[in-house]
Amino acid sequence: MGYRDTYARWQADPEAYWLEQAQAIDWDVAPTQALFERGNDMYEWYADTRVNGCYNAVDRHVEQGRADQVAIIHDSPITGTQSKITFAELQSRVANLAGALVAQGVTKGDRVLIYMPMVPEAVEAMLACARIGAIHSVVFGGFAANELAVRIDDCTPKAILAASCGLEPGRVVPYKPLLDAAIDMATHKIETCIILQRPQQTCSLVEGRDLDWHTAQDGVAPADCVSVEGNHPAYILYTSGTTGAPKGVVRHTAGHLVALNWTMKNVYNVDPGDVFWAASDVGWVVGHSYICYAPLIHGNTTVVFEGKPIGTPDAGTFWRVIEEHNVRSFFTAPTAIRAVKREDPKGEFRKKYDLSCLRALYLAGERADPDTIEWAQDVLGTPVYDHWWQTESGYAMVANPTGLETLPVKIGSPTVAMPGYDIRILDEAGHELPPGKLGAIAVKLPLPPGTLPTLWNAEDRFRKSYLTAFPGFYETGDAGMIDEDGYLYIMARTDDVINVAGHRLSTGAMEEVLAGHPDVAECAVVGVSDALKGQAPIGFLCLSKGVDRPHAEIVAECVKRMRDQIGPVAAFKLALVVDRLPKTRSGKILRATMVKIADSAPFKLPATIDDPAILDEIKLALQSIGYAKE
Ligand code: COA
Ligand code: AMP
Repeated sequence: MGYRDTYARWQADPEAYWLEQAQAIDWDVAPTQALFERGNDMYEWYADTRVNGCYNAVDRHVEQGRADQVAIIHDSPITGTQSKITFAELQSRVANLAGALVAQGVTKGDRVLIYMPMVPEAVEAMLACARIGAIHSVVFGGFAANELAVRIDDCTPKAILAASCGLEPGRVVPYKPLLDAAIDMATHKIETCIILQRPQQTCSLVEGRDLDWHTAQDGVAPADCVSVEGNHPAYILYTSGTTGAPKGVVRHTAGHLVALNWTMKNVYNVDPGDVFWAASDVGWVVGHSYICYAPLIHGNTTVVFEGKPIGTPDAGTFWRVIEEHNVRSFFTAPTAIRAVKREDPKGEFRKKYDLSCLRALYLAGERADPDTIEWAQDVLGTPVYDHWWQTESGYAMVANPTGLETLPVKIGSPTVAMPGYDIRILDEAGHELPPGKLGAIAVKLPLPPGTLPTLWNAEDRFRKSYLTAFPGFYETGDAGMIDEDGYLYIMARTDDVINVAGHRLSTGAMEEVLAGHPDVAECAVVGVSDALKGQAPIGFLCLSKGVDRPHAEIVAECVKRMRDQIGPVAAFKLALVVDRLPKTRSGKILRATMVKIADSAPFKLPATIDDPAILDEIKLALQSIGYAKE
């Protein structure tokens, strides 16, 4: 059955469609009903089931003939090491770690925060939580202590699993001091930390609170899988919204098992036993879905890669990993390919490797620009598929369903809506727009299994963020259009979220940090175009009256503040001191216009602008740092 028939079958009877897809999962109590309406546009999936996520990702494969298949390949060009873990080994490692959590009093429903680099133990930590019904919340290593503290206070974990350090090219990032600082900052008290001591830099342990990863497992009974309700949260993953407070996206267990399993064949075209590689980080949704859960649930081998596209040691690293581990489908962010292209435009490194094992490259996380797609197609000699999704959806909303049927690629479009997603383009009043017209991208409710049912402890915010703008629809925060053939095009965000190197960041959160500087009276942060990272943040600072210090000093302090408070991942390196910010007469800062000026793009003077002369001042300031060229 091809794409159109499959989509039509889902549309005709979603309940039957999702019950059928659920058969690929091993249930303790199988579903009798797929969708559960909870009123007020809230929905849950497979709520009457009982199931265990770790059992489906690990134990069932051991029982069903994959015990000796490699489950995880760890490839770390940064440390020069590699290791392989079979499903049987993974089962015992995860059961022991889960046993250690149980010994520390962690039970079903407790939250466990994970702050780890790209080591197999990070995936094992997630699975150990799933095994005992604990709800994990992974925090990306590039976030600073303050961001960690905010997450600790929001999800109030019973325990934390962390590593002594992470490794960035040429630099060890000591995680433990960041963790200790975050625990000190947070109001919620942490009873237990289990720390993986990495040989590159060990750390001291706080007596009575911290346990060594291996000692914690000594003498404890391995934990069995705990059966949980289908709507039991598997995890909370924080993502950036408009304000500084991150949104805790909740993922329910059953829906994500069914949906992720579906995507492995239908979107990524891999069969059980194949090697699948997502070069991302466990701290992002791509890492949750496609480094940890989906490949393992589907019986694939997953690659945990600790390195960068370039510099570890060169622009051929990706190609080496693909050849060496026989990768069939490869998934990364466009920015990573842009980095390789910039370093090796002629693809000389590619020529050193036999990539005949690779069927396709999949790109997501940010806009895939045509140059990058075309370059990758030429250099790899394989198809390149853009696909569109977000933390909230957990997997592709729009993709080329290559396992079902390969649709013609239209460069610039992530292709078509996946079954489960009824995508519409709406105008500001919520009216549907015809093909070719630009508007807000919305998804008709209910969203399919595996998508967010709510935000952690914040149902009101969930409604306000996603459900109120267009009643009956989920608001994606992206703008775009659909063409006559049903292909979607993503053009921009409709909010103040920016995307830097595939990382989703809130300019609102950055503005809060700048506003905290004692000399800053008012500020704005915008995302300007960046050839490598897609977007880069620039801060505009208006200083308080009477401040008479060198501007360079204040700018340097602001850059440091951002690194200390949000983290290096913000990649905040540029700020400008200006006298005034351009605003509408009602006082709204004209951020979109500032971006257009910085990018030297044409723009219409907003009709409601208060003082157009300020735009010239902004332009001059931007020109002083090489932006806003004539
Ligand atoms: N722990 C600590 N610090 C981290 C980190 C981590 N896990 N990940 C990144 N950082 C730091 C980096 O060291 C860098 O610090 P610096 O300012 O001191 O150099 C900063 O955060 C920004 O990192 P990054 O965005 O990775 O930029 P980069 O300049 O080091 O590398 C790319 C550029 C394009 C190579 C890189 O961004 C990349 O590989 N991107 C892939 C994107 C991706 O996987 N996205 C996930 C969504 S699919
Ligand atoms: P995240 O939640 O971090 O995965 O970020 C999701 C956002 O990244 C989306 O809402 C889009 O703005 C952007 N994004 C993700 N994939 C694509 C894509 N294929 N094309 C354009 N933008 C994308």
